[in-house]
Amino acid sequence: DWTMAAFKDEAIARIRAQVGDGTVICGLSGGVDSSVAAVLIHEAIGDRLHCVFVDHGLMRKDEGRQVVSLFRDHYNIPLIHADESERFLGALAGVSDPEVKRKTIGKLFIDVFEEKANGIGGAAFLAQGTLYPDVIESVSAIGGPSVTIKSHHNVGGLPERMNMKLVEPLRDLFKDEVRALGRELGLPETFVGRHPFPGPGLAIRIPGEITKEKCDILREADAVYLDEIRKAGLYDKIWQAFAVLLPVKTVGVMGDGRTYEYVCALRAVTSSDGMTADFFPYSMDFLGRAATRIINEVRGVNRVVYDVTSKPPGTIEWE
Ligand code: XMP
Repeated sequence: DWTMAAFKDEAIARIRAQVGDGTVICGLSGGVDSSVAAVLIHEAIGDRLHCVFVDHGLMRKDEGRQVVSLFRDHYNIPLIHADESERFLGALAGVSDPEVKRKTIGKLFIDVFEEKANGIGGAAFLAQGTLYPDVIESVSAIGGPSVTIKSHHNVGGLPERMNMKLVEPLRDLFKDEVRALGRELGLPETFVGRHPFPGPGLAIRIPGEITKEKCDILREADAVYLDEIRKAGLYDKIWQAFAVLLPVKTVGVMGDGRTYEYVCALRAVTSSDGMTADFFPYSMDFLGRAATRIINEVRGVNRVVYDVTSKPPGTIEWE
């Protein structure tokens, strides 16, 4: 795509002009946006880019390992992998309000990030994979006529405190354009085609209080669900699909025993930019298969439901 090739060259020139001979720190989340931003900046300034991956223990199954292997082993980009799951889960104990969850995670994320950045001697610039829709939603949350939608933790906070300037090479792009740019940069399809994943991670897919046990149950259910989606050849037809663990237990039967376990909700939507979305029209066959596998394979879940809410009026995430 020649327009993306041109955009890439311009973006690289702009990064070089902005950064000069300074150093940049980039937080990786495992998502498409920060991955593409990091690889783009790496092309522009080489190993004056340092990446920090803060693992908050709220990632999907296997996600941390994939990030480390792509950036450290494949691209040779200097990467700090901070495993801080206990600290995050500790701070989230007893918290069930969605906005308090986001703020708690956002604040701790900034603390950890600052520690790690200082640990490598700091940097003049902070890179973020902010997209155009993020800019719009946070502007409307601050000054617009509507009430706050959600606090997106990748906008604001750290740069002022650390006296860093922001490098945001994706600010003018929508998600599909970021993917095209990622392909242009040669990122593997497993990263480029990846569904969006929110900064607060599984925390906003576990309504109510978060525990390690619930995170583990959700990780397993989510992995089985996504495996079925891939097997059915549906992954690329869906904008975002994930499991949600409800704070509700219901009665079931298994063999000749009575069970009393959690309900798992499945979500899948189509969208072009995340601002509006339609629920995905699975076949009943698919839903039955996914539900049976989750209930059989995931301890702690005995009932599965499908969310048929579009956005608006619903949001894509449950919190
Ligand atoms: P909602 O739930 O608002 O989500 O319809 C729209 C898109 O944004 C993602 N999302 C987030 N991404 N930090 C992020 O980086 C967040 O706090 C956050 N909240 C929602 C969501 O996954 C969807 O793609």
